[in-house]
Amino acid sequence: MILEWSDEYSLSNNIIDAQHKKLFKLVNTLSQLNERQVTFTNFKKTLNYLVQYALQHFKDEEILQRLYDYPQYAEHKKVHDDFTATAGILSKITEKEFSPEKFISLKGTLYNWLKQHVAVDDKKIGDYIRGKVPDIGKLTS
Ligand code: FEO
Repeated sequence: MILEWSDEYSLSNNIIDAQHKKLFKLVNTLSQLNERQVTFTNFKKTLNYLVQYALQHFKDEEILQRLYDYPQYAEHKKVHDDFTATAGILSKITEKEFSPEKFISLKGTLYNWLKQHVAVDDKKIGDYIRGKVPDIGKLTS
């Protein structure tokens, strides 16, 4: 399972697009960790970095939405907030609770969530911005 970037996911903002590309890379790194070789320590390290990066990205993306008066801002922020709450629970997982089965389940959940969120929820922001500023692509490429 590899997440691949496509320009159709673009929000016509170089900073946010770069963050999405990096999030894809981080989830791919997690996804490629072999459950027979993964250790609790490297799982936690990768997960914590991914979550911290995602939280900063949410803040930046919310600023972009407010900048363009995105009409679904509140709903989108709630999705971010729900992920943040779930991430808080995930990051508290202890070594005792960790197992190969749990690892497979967690990496699948993160992979599916990010794919769905960027390809569907975030894409709507890009479509909205391009509808509002048709030439924005020329300014950001
Ligand atoms: Fe790119 Fe809504 O997170």
